[in-house]
Amino acid sequence: MSFLDPVWTSLLYLAAAVCFILALRGLSSPRTARRGNLVGALGALIAVVTVFLSARLENIPWILAAIAVGSAVAAPVARRVKMTQMPQLVALFNGVGGGAAALVALLELGNAEEPWVRVAIVFTLLVGAVSFAGSGVTFAKLQELMTTRPVVFRGLPVVMAVVLLAAVAAAAAVVLTASLPLAVVLLVLGLAAGMLLVLPVGGADVPIVISLLNAFTGLAVAASGLVLGNVLLVVAGTLVGASGTILTRAMAAAMGRSVAGILFGAFRGGSTAGSTAVSERPVRSSSPEDVAVLLGYAQRVIIVPGYGLAVAQGQHTAAELAQALEARGIEVDFAIHPVAGRMPGHMNVLLAEANVPYESLKEMGEINPEFKTTDVALVVGANDVVNPAAKTSSGSPIYGMPILEVAEARQVVFLKRSMRPGFAGIENDLLYEPQTSLLFGDAKDSLAQVLGAVKAL
Ligand code: TAP
Repeated sequence: MSFLDPVWTSLLYLAAAVCFILALRGLSSPRTARRGNLVGALGALIAVVTVFLSARLENIPWILAAIAVGSAVAAPVARRVKMTQMPQLVALFNGVGGGAAALVALLELGNAEEPWVRVAIVFTLLVGAVSFAGSGVTFAKLQELMTTRPVVFRGLPVVMAVVLLAAVAAAAAVVLTASLPLAVVLLVLGLAAGMLLVLPVGGADVPIVISLLNAFTGLAVAASGLVLGNVLLVVAGTLVGASGTILTRAMAAAMGRSVAGILFGAFRGGSTAGSTAVSERPVRSSSPEDVAVLLGYAQRVIIVPGYGLAVAQGQHTAAELAQALEARGIEVDFAIHPVAGRMPGHMNVLLAEANVPYESLKEMGEINPEFKTTDVALVVGANDVVNPAAKTSSGSPIYGMPILEVAEARQVVFLKRSMRPGFAGIENDLLYEPQTSLLFGDAKDSLAQVLGAVKAL
């Protein structure tokens, strides 16, 4: 029995769709992101309750049990996950969405009488399966359950071409015959294609691929909306598909790469991941007191946060240091590179958590001209995003990525634990330049020691 008539159902779906759009708007700024997230969750709640009240559902106990199991697994995982592990969590949730859409399509095949519905079914099956398997591999890579380096083997492009051709043939056969066994074959081919697509991607490209697979899941969900005749799924899926596509393009642009280059470059084994060899050249190491003197007597300081600041959870100490310097009349800003850390907006979120005012967070384009007139660039746990190899070394895996121009500051101080490179696995020549000094240690400890020494000046 259904409790809602179609008009009320449509109105509630419209309310949910408006929530999703407002959520995306809210998520576009750190100031409104939390509210945006809540509005999106409200939209999802409205959607689920509306389905319960409007559709003639069977097997309600099973559905409730599935919801309970999913929530029991997902809620604690999402609560406990570290900020640095967020990309793999997103990959996992995204993959599950694609897999769910594929299963729905498989089950609906028996009810699909019209050919165009079967077209939507094979699309959902294939794209959902690609997203499920591809997201699983990206999860395994980011969680370091398998190598994070590109996995390539001879003949990979040929295998991929064969799998795709077989998938197209199976899809055509399913549309014509509605055969369930062939649909299962298509599902398996989709899973194989998803794995083959992501295995050769390595290094810094993995998060871009997560975002691309997110867009795939959106498309699969939108197509499943056509299969089920559910407008809200079409709207929500399209929103995910569009926002995933925009994010993919923005991340690729921030790293100076094209999306096609990432996918097809990866097929040739050209994905970003360098060697981790460390050279024996001498560097200038400093003490916390030396760094405090440099900072404390400067006029202009720019702090460049990176992944290491997140690992060390040093954001509060960094914020305190900035305040202590400002109290001495020094102008201090934080320079934010779009791909610093391990997820889009990572540094914004991290520093917002430490209540660093938004006005002090300067985007790359805005801050780069200011390094020339800066006394000290304090690089805290960042490496790739300040590596001049991106500009000068055409063979480098990060060549072409715009960087923060810290080399132009009068003095550069790196806070890091060792001479190990960053995510892309390549050496940073800036560490060996005469204007550079290094304070070795965990970023939070080093910042605390520098802060203490600044206060003692
Ligand atoms: P990285 O280049 O990865 O460098 C991080 C640095 O932090 C390393 O030099 C490491 O050196 C240091 N570090 C690690 N833990 C530390 C700790 N506890 N205390 C002090 N230092 C610590 O980081 P980045 O400059 O932020 O660049 C980000 C990289 O990740 C780029 O290559 C980017 O493409 C890639 N990426 C970005 C994203 C997004 S969307 N943001 C997603 C995935 C990948 P030590 O080990 O010597 O301490």
